[in-house]
Amino acid sequence: MTTVLVTGCDTGLGVEFARQYATAGCRVIATCLEPGRAQATHEIAGNVHVMKLDVSDLAAIDALARELCGEPIDILVSNAGIARPHPPFGQTDYALWQRMLEVNVMGPMKLAEAFVEHVAASRMKVMAFLSARMGSIALNLTGGSYAYRSSKAGLNAVAKSLAIDLAPREILVLALHPGWAKTEPGGRVDVDRSVAGMRGIIERVGRHETGSFFAYNDIPLPW
Ligand SMILES: NC(=O)c1ccc[n+]([C@@H]2O[C@H](COP(=O)([O-])OP(=O)(O)OC[C@H]3O[C@@H](n4cnc5c(N)ncnc54)[C@H](OP(=O)(O)O)[C@@H]3O)[C@@H](O)[C@H]2O)c1
Repeated sequence: MTTVLVTGCDTGLGVEFARQYATAGCRVIATCLEPGRAQATHEIAGNVHVMKLDVSDLAAIDALARELCGEPIDILVSNAGIARPHPPFGQTDYALWQRMLEVNVMGPMKLAEAFVEHVAASRMKVMAFLSARMGSIALNLTGGSYAYRSSKAGLNAVAKSLAIDLAPREILVLALHPGWAKTEPGGRVDVDRSVAGMRGIIERVGRHETGSFFAYNDIPLPW
């Protein structure tokens, strides 16, 4: 049976990842920042285990990895993230920026380090990181969003290095952009379509594509 671990399953895309993988017959480890408020995740039918995890708590990531010791994880979906707000130039909130770096960059890196043996022991051996088109430096034509853009650009750098460093262990690493999904105000892409698209990419990519950055609709994005 395919086992999938998804972080940030309290709301949004994380809930949908858990739902779609459970519907596909996978065993899902759905980690939540606050399991008590993740009603939708608790209600998913199938083989879903809800566990508490704050991805900015590095010791908690290690503890969860120890708790799941010996359990292969086919697909690690690093989904948890902070996307808002976007204060303009001159009003930078440095505490928020630091928090974004902890949650959007360091947490995902720590997940990779803590769960590398679980993923290496699995059949599929995939680590997928929820990045954002806004993390692409090449595609930045509108400026602003300093904290969010730099956190996702940093995450992209992490994913690329992981792809290189973990290739000898046959672990496939991807950075994925979910589109402007309807979890966001004004979002245009239906949440189920976004997640189905990203799942499709995870299913179809070959080892030679490790270290790639794809949008949910399978379009490669520049760094
Ligand atoms: N939706 C989009 O259009 C879009 C576009 C590009 C990229 N993304 C990325 O896709 C991912 C999912 O986004 P989403 O749209 O589903 O947003 P979301 O609904 O805000 O989901 C993110 C989840 O991560 C949780 N989280 C925040 N800090 C955490 C922490 N320290 N530990 C564990 N969980 C934490 C959030 O909890 P709280 O609600 O308590 O903060 C939230 O439940 C994010 O990484 C986001 O940056 C989304």
